[in-house]
Amino acid sequence: MVGSLIVTAFWAMLPAYVPNNAAVLAGGGRPIDGGRTWGGRRVLGDGKTWRGTAVGTLVGVLLALGLNAVNGPLSAAVGLSLPRFPIQAAVGLALGAMLGDIGASFIKRRSGRERGAAFPGLDQLDFVVGALLLAFVFAADWALSTFSLGVLAVILVITPLLHVSTNVVAFKIGAKDEPW
Ligand code: CTP
Ligand code: MG
Repeated sequence: MVGSLIVTAFWAMLPAYVPNNAAVLAGGGRPIDGGRTWGGRRVLGDGKTWRGTAVGTLVGVLLALGLNAVNGPLSAAVGLSLPRFPIQAAVGLALGAMLGDIGASFIKRRSGRERGAAFPGLDQLDFVVGALLLAFVFAADWALSTFSLGVLAVILVITPLLHVSTNVVAFKIGAKDEPW
């Protein structure tokens, strides 16, 4: 019961989990804010780039399509009906994750935190909130049927755990400057 909730939550959120990690690997180039400042601080900072955002979103969408392709055999293997991603849901999850992270950088800069500074809580959940919101906007029926209260509760617990562990790994292998 809880096991199937965890599997469903993880599967449904994979297209939202991967984009930020892809952005870390792909990042660089022109910052989205073009170097502009607001109130004496960068609007977003050099850590939010067009290339990272575009590549991250694309990777998330392609991953969702890939998951759809293997849905049948994997659903049979785990004895569950794993969610399939309509394209609107795939775009909502992937783009929403990137936008949530960008929104967090905006908040960090407004609160005086420099690029790379940690903001516990916000760092772990910004992309989940963005992904869920945009999934509901782009694919309301799909989101309502996929994200039951049980699945949402599991997402709120497993996401920070996954985020912390993947970022520590990314830091250790040198892909990220800070372990958060
Ligand atoms: N990245 C990017 N575009 C994005 C998100 C991330 O290019 N939309 C890349 C950047 O190279 C960034 C790295 O991924 O430095 C790590 O992402 P993140 O930790 O979100 O950014 P920070 O550099 O820590 O900046 P911030 O304090 O604004 O989060
Ligand atoms: Mg960071």
